[in-house]
Amino acid sequence: MIRGEKIYLRPIQKSDLTYLYQWKNDEETFMYLGGGFLPTSIDQLEKWMDVMIDTTGRDKRFIICDNDGSPKGMVGLYDIEWIHRTCEIGVYIGDKDAKGKGYGKEACLLTEKYAKKYLNLRKIKLSVVSDNKRALNMWESLGYKKVGEYIAERYIKGAYRNLTIMEKFID
Ligand SMILES: CC(C)(COP(=O)(O)OP(=O)(O)OC[C@H]1O[C@@H](n2cnc3c(N)ncnc32)[C@H](O)[C@@H]1OP(=O)(O)O)[C@@H](O)C(=O)NCCC(=O)NCCS
Repeated sequence: MIRGEKIYLRPIQKSDLTYLYQWKNDEETFMYLGGGFLPTSIDQLEKWMDVMIDTTGRDKRFIICDNDGSPKGMVGLYDIEWIHRTCEIGVYIGDKDAKGKGYGKEACLLTEKYAKKYLNLRKIKLSVVSDNKRALNMWESLGYKKVGEYIAERYIKGAYRNLTIMEKFID
């Protein structure tokens, strides 16, 4: 477990399938994420569980739980580059009632600390849809700096959206 104040992070397990199924099928949460909003069956997701639970490769995903042990969302480090010591970060709070309670920000902070102290990484990168103000605010408040913006990069809900690229040095 990676313990914080309001939450802790734990590895994904196969029994999380029902949570992942609910979260993945929520348009509001997924439309701004990399894969976009794509309604997905529980059977299809089940095929992905071997990938999701695997923490041995270049991606490390964690379930965000409140202190009562209730799953609230997911945070992950992706495409870890061991030579350059960089990676990308992604996060979502899938439980609608859990948004805006500080869980997303704390999950990112805990993940950053883990990346620095245990994986010896030095820089974290991300891309965020420029219209996604809540996420943009969060990344800025965590100290990520904008390094550029792709124009009309993603097609979401009937419109092309810009994509902001950000980075943070954690060493
Ligand atoms: C973005 C997301 C992860 C934030 O998690 P959260 O738990 O709801 O956010 P928190 O309560 O931790 O707040 C973090 C910061 O977000 C910003 N924020 C939170 N709620 C906000 C709102 N309603 N409007 C604008 N900004 C808001 C604030 O800057 C806040 O930091 P502060 O409290 O220090 O000012 C969450 O809303 C989510 O899952 N969104 C959908 C998926 C997504 O967009 N993921 C990020 C992709 S790059």
